[in-house]
Amino acid sequence: MYIYSKALKEMEKKINIIKYDYEYLNKYSSIDHVMSRIKSPESLLNKMKLDNLEFTYSSMINNINDIAGIRIICPLKSDIFTMRKYIEEFNDITVIKEKDYVTHPKPSGYSSYHMIVELPVFVDNNLNNVKVEIQIRSLAMDFWASLEHKIKYKPNGEVNEDLSKELVKCAKEINKLDNKMIKFFRK
Ligand code: GTP
Ligand code: MG
Repeated sequence: MYIYSKALKEMEKKINIIKYDYEYLNKYSSIDHVMSRIKSPESLLNKMKLDNLEFTYSSMINNINDIAGIRIICPLKSDIFTMRKYIEEFNDITVIKEKDYVTHPKPSGYSSYHMIVELPVFVDNNLNNVKVEIQIRSLAMDFWASLEHKIKYKPNGEVNEDLSKELVKCAKEINKLDNKMIKFFRK
């Protein structure tokens, strides 16, 4: 698992560079904060079971894309695409997969921009191409996603149809506010 924590460190470094340059050039920060995590062994096993994967190391590294995960929280919805562009511009990063739940939210109401990228990680002069999942979202999207996740996974927390509908409504209202906030920042 060391290569995954090293990949996170490398990715965090790159994101910090973007933040630093962007702040200097625009006198505004397009990143509020960054969070990263390594998938716990329990959730790794659960996912491999759910996806009917063989319990081998190669099956794990080939099929699970989010062992290393980074979440970039931006102040505004419009910052999300700025961040995506900067990440894509790194020469040593390959974008493997992208999912735009910002333009097309999930039926649950969930909104975020997802990227699976691959980056070179050297350990003892050996090159490893390591996958990292990057989720880019606004503060408002993160507010919804964090609470929705807590509601879904709280003990005995059953999400019935009514609650699901309410959560979708909340997501839509939050999206309206997100769009409104962008206007206040237009120069
Ligand atoms: P896995 O979910 O990782 O199996 O892959 P996938 O291809 O389905 O990826 P997807 O882009 O759907 O979601 C990956 C991650 O996004 C999840 O692990 C969550 O962190 C987040 N996510 C996706 N859908 C929701 C949702 O409805 N609510 C919340 N709170 N988070 C979500
Ligand atoms: Mg999923």
